[in-house]
Amino acid sequence: MKFGYFDDKKREYVITQPDTPLPWINYLGCEAYFGIISNTAGGYSFYRDARLRRLTRYRYNNVPLDFGGRYVYLRDNESKEFWSPSWQPTRHDLEDYTCRHGMGYSVIGSSYDGIEAHTRYFVPLGENLEIWQLTVTNRRETKATLSGFASIEFCLWDAQDDATNFQRNFNTGQVEVEDGVIYHKTEYRERRNHFAYFACSEPVGFDTQREAFLGRYRGWDKPETVEAGALSNSIAHGWSPIGAHQVSLELGPGETKQIVFVLGYHENPVEDKFDPAGSQTINKKTVKPTIAKYLNGVEADAAVEKLRLYWEQTLGVFQVNTPDIHTNRMVNIWNAYQCMATFNMSRSASFYESGIGRGLGFRDSNQDLLGFVHMVPSRARERILDLAATQLPTGGAYHQYQPLTKRGNNDIGGGFNDDPHWLIIGVNAYLKETGDWSILDEPVQYDNEPGSEQPLYEHLQRSFNYTLSRLGPHGLPLIGRADWNDCLNLNCFSDTPGQSFQTTTNKDGKVAESVFIAGLFVYAGRELAAIAKMRGLETEASRYIGETEKMLAVINEHGWDGEWFLRAYDDFGRKIGSKDCEEGKIFIESNGFCALAGIGLEDGKAASAMDAVGKHLATKHGIVVQQPAYSKYYLELGEISSYPPGYKENAGIFCHVNPWVMIGETRLGHGDAAHDYYSRINPSAREEIGDLHRCEPYVYAQMIAGKDAPTFGEAKNSWLTGTAAWNYYAIVQWILGIRTSLDGLEIAPVIPKNWPGFTATRRFRDVVYEIAIERRGDGNSIALTVDGEAIEGNVVPTPADGRKTVTVKGILS
Ligand code: GLC
Ligand code: GLC
Repeated sequence: MKFGYFDDKKREYVITQPDTPLPWINYLGCEAYFGIISNTAGGYSFYRDARLRRLTRYRYNNVPLDFGGRYVYLRDNESKEFWSPSWQPTRHDLEDYTCRHGMGYSVIGSSYDGIEAHTRYFVPLGENLEIWQLTVTNRRETKATLSGFASIEFCLWDAQDDATNFQRNFNTGQVEVEDGVIYHKTEYRERRNHFAYFACSEPVGFDTQREAFLGRYRGWDKPETVEAGALSNSIAHGWSPIGAHQVSLELGPGETKQIVFVLGYHENPVEDKFDPAGSQTINKKTVKPTIAKYLNGVEADAAVEKLRLYWEQTLGVFQVNTPDIHTNRMVNIWNAYQCMATFNMSRSASFYESGIGRGLGFRDSNQDLLGFVHMVPSRARERILDLAATQLPTGGAYHQYQPLTKRGNNDIGGGFNDDPHWLIIGVNAYLKETGDWSILDEPVQYDNEPGSEQPLYEHLQRSFNYTLSRLGPHGLPLIGRADWNDCLNLNCFSDTPGQSFQTTTNKDGKVAESVFIAGLFVYAGRELAAIAKMRGLETEASRYIGETEKMLAVINEHGWDGEWFLRAYDDFGRKIGSKDCEEGKIFIESNGFCALAGIGLEDGKAASAMDAVGKHLATKHGIVVQQPAYSKYYLELGEISSYPPGYKENAGIFCHVNPWVMIGETRLGHGDAAHDYYSRINPSAREEIGDLHRCEPYVYAQMIAGKDAPTFGEAKNSWLTGTAAWNYYAIVQWILGIRTSLDGLEIAPVIPKNWPGFTATRRFRDVVYEIAIERRGDGNSIALTVDGEAIEGNVVPTPADGRKTVTVKGILS
């Protein structure tokens, strides 16, 4: 069953039923001011950091679901009836309800009793504010006398504190109202120099105290003031400050009117916080021009157009036309768009991530670059330097950092032994895309300590060496707190409720080893060697290669189980992911990653491992993490066995790692298998089974319940997942084979046999490559002509004569 449809021309997903199985969300903002918005206008906004600078309040896991957001109400002043055009919170039976989620905006609306109303929500580029454009049309044959209301609930900045520290919070709330603009200034009197504001183009009334607006014991579905048709001009003193505006709408038959609301964030210079100086009144001079500008509908429209152009440009870096609509739609629009969201949010704020628990993950954000770096390389560069500055002098890293402070998060600390290698992979993705070698010379601190600056290149060296000084009994890398699989906690041994599996360590960590990290080490080591070589550091390069060769030998000796790669050794030195195990005999991570890294290509191990994955782990809904699922809790394995079978890391379909197998298959030349796996988890291809899948059909989810789960095929945790970058990378760079390399743009498609070919446009290092691939035989060997001239090999040379457009033709045979 479907709950909407794709409008690919407009790059929108159009939801046509408000009660989707779960809230289907979109992101507003892609720079510093962000919001999440559901298809019924639920959600919240924040500046940079969803925990530390939350602008509006949102109650996660609320009842009813997704209650609280950017709500508009209309009231017919004759019938006295009121409703919300976005369905929530009043939940009337609406006509023609649609929510159009687009690139950086959402338009939500409907018709009710002859009144058509839509609100377009978006964040203008370069601004720390969001605009709501409410358009109301009277489709009746008679005049309509309406009142409109718009409301938000302010959060007292620190979302964690806001949800817990009520003995203080109920006293601190403060607002000012001036010229109809509501200013939220809690804690501005003391240590904050920022405030929020909510403005309206035609205000006739307001409320700022939640209870005054809603009435006692009422919810957002039935505010007393909206019911009565008049706001009360309340001023909040403590309790719960809100922003509510009232407008008048007198509409003749067929008449349309637009009202603009602006919700924003503003910082003042510390010495210029108050006006007049010495008073306690906010200095508003610095923000008034911005407010005035965007309350003007013409300016708002211009900002929408700019946003459209921005996305056209950004997505235009890579566009493809294949015989498969789901591939096209995801690559050209939604998967790339999701990569922007994961780049911005890491795993911090979604419908499943509360914005409080997690900042930016070290391994996550480095991997996110694989799907993002081509879109805005300058921001990728900045991110790399921020990430590297949280690296510890040992070469290890803080597992997460807070985006606002850019400092490592001490609560979670470090010791995840895969972390450092992702930095090498992230940096190399940047180098391959841009050829900007200067980044390697950037001085970067360790642990954000001033004075500890070393060139970024040295950070990469320390990443590599980190593993060499942490090898276990078999010569494989010690796993530490966990590797990519956060839930394989082999040194944890936790039997105490509530302990964190990721930070509890009851073992000294000298025994448990990871075959996955071994594969990662080989892959990252080769990347580092290639970088060293390009820098002319031959001796160093051969040292890296030497170490990866040694590791390969160890993998061959202790990391192979006969038909597939082992996963790990536990603290007793026993195998994990072996046919000798009772449960968890085979895992996706070590097999997928080793194949992706090209390990075992020559001696048949990779082929055997991929066969085993196909046989034991692949399902119609995607590839599960391991089999058989753990049916009970294993003290020595940790969190992985805490999940019921089929969910999350315990044999769920973790979509993040499925692409490793896709890439592995391309390395074996299996285009059919690779694209088949790709399609099984492609959200667009799953749109038809929306009632089973339940999450948004336009973005990937982290997890789909595995075959051991009663809800096999049900997705969870959409939007913020490494799935976005890895699937993008797998389809674009390995299946379509339009691949960045240190030498230039490589063309090496491994596509399904029944594809006659495809065309693509790629903007790469300031040159536009118009690529056409034609299949003339069954295989994957390619002959390239560039601007009509045949070339050797498959790397397209950078045009020496400064041509800005190059035509590439590839014949597959
Ligand atoms: C989550 C984490 C990621 C981890 C994965 C597997 O997606 O964000 O860091 O690798 O789970 O445990
Ligand atoms: C839990 C999740 C895992 C995630 C981790 C982050 O362990 O299962 O996916 O990476 O939390 O802290």
